[in-house]
Amino acid sequence: MILVTGGAGFIGANFILDWLRERDEPVLNVDKLTYAGNLENLADLAGDPRYAFVQGDIADHGLIDALLAQHKPRALINFAAESHVDRSIHGPGEFIQTNIVGTFKLLESVRAYFATLDETKKAAFRFLHVSTDEVYGSLTADAPPFTEDTRYEPNSPYSASKAASDHLVRAYHHTYGLPVVTTNCSNNYGPYQFPEKLIPLVIANALAGKALPIYGDGQQIRDWLYVADHCAAIRRVLEGGAVGEVYNIGGWNEKPNLDIVHSICDLLDKLRPRTDGKPYREQITYVTDRPGHDRRYAIDASRIERELGWAPAETFATGIAKTVRWYLDHSEWIRNVQSGAYREWVEKNYAGRKQ
Ligand code: NAD
Ligand code: DAU
Repeated sequence: MILVTGGAGFIGANFILDWLRERDEPVLNVDKLTYAGNLENLADLAGDPRYAFVQGDIADHGLIDALLAQHKPRALINFAAESHVDRSIHGPGEFIQTNIVGTFKLLESVRAYFATLDETKKAAFRFLHVSTDEVYGSLTADAPPFTEDTRYEPNSPYSASKAASDHLVRAYHHTYGLPVVTTNCSNNYGPYQFPEKLIPLVIANALAGKALPIYGDGQQIRDWLYVADHCAAIRRVLEGGAVGEVYNIGGWNEKPNLDIVHSICDLLDKLRPRTDGKPYREQITYVTDRPGHDRRYAIDASRIERELGWAPAETFATGIAKTVRWYLDHSEWIRNVQSGAYREWVEKNYAGRKQ
C-alpha cells in the first residue's frame, strides 16, 4: 500500500481518486484537516476497502511512527502543506510549522521506519516529496523556463518554507540514504480546488455576481497545468524516477492572469449567461497587488518527458472547459466550503485592497 499525506486537499484528493481508478493498490490518507482539507472531496470512496483515512498531523511523530509500523507502506507521497501565498503573507507561522518542521518530523519518522525494512523492501521504498516551481523565484520576460538546475530564490514565506522542505528532503537522501524523489510543479487547476486560489475564486465570484479581483496589472504569468496531468506525472515519477533526483512538472502553458480570467468569463458567458445579458468581464476589478508578487513562472518539463515519457494530456482550452463545467455542476461543494472561516479570509485578504 501507499501512504499519502495531505490527501484531503486539492491535489492530494485528485491524486487518490485517480490512483484508485488507475491502480488497485490501497491508500492510507493522513490529513490534519486544516481549512483546506475537505473529506467531501473523497466522498466517492465511501465503502471502498482500498481506502482508509486517519486525521493527523505530519508533525505528530508518535502517530506517524505507529501508522508506518502498522501499515508498512512501500511508498509515501507528501502533499501535506500550507499552500496559499497570500495566507503566508498574512501569517507565515503555520507555513514554518507544517512545511518545514512538519516535513522534518515526517522525514525522521520515515528514516526510522526505513531502517526496519529488509534489503528488498528498502530497494523498493520511495519518499516522494511534492513541491512547487515557486522555489525558483521569479523570471524576467525573456528568461528561459526553470530547469532542475535553476538556483533556488524563493520570494514569499510560502515558497521559502517549501524550499526549506526540499533541502531537508535532499539532505535526508545524501546523509541517511533515504530513497527520496522531489517534484517541482507549476500552477494546478481543476476540480476540488479551494476557492481562495485564482481560478476557482474567479468562477465562484463570477457566479455570485461579485468582483473578480485582479492583483496589480494582471500581467503576471503562470504556467498552468490541469491537475489530472500532475497526478499522472507523480505516478510516473513514483514508478520510474531516479532516487535522489528532482523532476520539474509543467504544462508548457504560460499565460498572464488577465487572459485566464478572460477565458473563464467567456466560458461562463456561453455556459451560464448572466441574467442581465451582460458579459462576466464587467465584474473584473483591479485591486492592490500582492506584496513581493512574482512576475513570471515557467517550467521546462523536458527532463520528465525525455526520461519518463510524461507529457500533459490536456491543453489549457480542454482543461479550463472541464474545470468550469465541474464547478457549475458542483455548486453545493462551493457553498459548503464557503464557511464562516472562508468569509473571514476573504474579508482579511480583500477588504484592505484599493480598487
Ligand atoms: P491544499 O492547501 O489544497 O491542501 C493541503 C492539504 O494538506 C490539506 O488537506 C490540509 O488539511 C493538509 N495539511 C496541511 N497541514 C497538514 C499537516 N501539518 N499534516 C497533515 N496534513 C496537513 O494544497 P494543494 O494545492 O493540494 O497542494 C498540495 C501540495 O502540492 C503542496 O505541498 C503544495 O505546495 C504543492 N503544490 C501545489 C500546487 C498548486 O498549484 N496547488 C502546485 C505545485 C505544488
Ligand atoms: O506555482 C505553483 C504554485 O501555484 C503553488 O505552489 C501554490 O500552492 C499555488 O497556490 C499557486 O500559487 P500562486 O500564488 O501562483 O496561485 P494563486 O491562485 O494564489 O494566484 C495565481 C495568480 O493570480 C498570481 O499571480 C496571483 C493572482 N491573483 C490571485 C488571487 C487569489 C489575483 O490576481 N487575484 C486573486 O484574487
